[in-house]
Amino acid sequence: EKGTYPHYMLKEIDEQPLAIRKIIQQYRAEDGKLTIDPAIIDAVKAADRLYIIAAGTSYHAGLLGKQFIESLAKIPVEVHVASEFSYNMPLLSEKPLFIFITQSGETADSRAVLVQVKELGYPAITITNVPGSTLSREADYTLLLHAGPEIAVASTKAYTAQMAVLSILAEVTGRSKGYDSSFDLVHELGIIANAMEVVFEQKEELETIAREYLSTTRNAFFIGRGIDYYVGLEGALKLKEISYIQAEGFAGGELKHGTIALIEDGTPIIALATQESVNLSIRGNVKEVVARGANPCIISMKGLEMDGDRFIVPAVHELLTPLISVLPLQLISYYAALHRDCDVDKPRNLAKSVTVE
Ligand code: M6R
Repeated sequence: EKGTYPHYMLKEIDEQPLAIRKIIQQYRAEDGKLTIDPAIIDAVKAADRLYIIAAGTSYHAGLLGKQFIESLAKIPVEVHVASEFSYNMPLLSEKPLFIFITQSGETADSRAVLVQVKELGYPAITITNVPGSTLSREADYTLLLHAGPEIAVASTKAYTAQMAVLSILAEVTGRSKGYDSSFDLVHELGIIANAMEVVFEQKEELETIAREYLSTTRNAFFIGRGIDYYVGLEGALKLKEISYIQAEGFAGGELKHGTIALIEDGTPIIALATQESVNLSIRGNVKEVVARGANPCIISMKGLEMDGDRFIVPAVHELLTPLISVLPLQLISYYAALHRDCDVDKPRNLAKSVTVE
């Protein structure tokens, strides 16, 4: 039930801190450390390469899952769009393990890959929000998101929950391989949940940003480098899906190789700057588009902010910034859709679960 909320999407955005806290609680052992079924950790450790398969927002979570797993567990990861993988399978490693990320557990494109890889005899884990869903039943193992039902077509809390569970999978695997255990993920995820609430205190500002930048535009670009690039892809998908604004996410350094031709006077550019290592270079990319007339909206993180930044999220661990930086993007999309009189919870042409290939 959406209670006093005007839309499920807003309710689900607001439920994200709760979902993160629930995930910590569900994956915490008596000794206070995070834990995952040892059979799953053994399967991950036995693999020489992980293949993440997903669609849409879940694919975007997978791109970040790769960052978490490669940095904390040091296992190579490939991330594939399900509908491409099933028709154009890449050369596989000797001991692959498949990880399906799917909020609904019913996405036909992802299921088609699961059927294929099971036929080949490879192990599979499904990360899903829906216990007993098709992909959960048909995989060898399941990791649940515990995010509560997601009703709005635009996925929000499932995305941050997927990233939280992927970070836990990465941390527990890394720890069990004997890597640095100084990274206190329980503590860091707790900081994320609190930081989310701080962002929600600034909804009015995000509504103003949506009105200023997006109420009449035809198109918009999201740019970032590294982790921020992947979050930009998700920001662009959210905006397209519910406000029908043509939006694209780009790697900051790639714009000048063609896409910059699309920049006109007033074109909105939403730039993410949450990574210290690329803070100056992404700002350089913003300058390049501003010189062509773009209207920049820089979203940065406390500690990395500079004059003129439009929105600043609280500081969190650098690997986990997507869990916080996506919130302003979700809310900007939500308000943009409202300002444009779009049906937020049920955008045209879309269904919550895509059960056809
Ligand atoms: O249920 P799934 O996670 O498998 O769904 C995958 C996509 O269809 C889904 O994430 C879609 O992109 C969302 N509507 C995006 O908000």
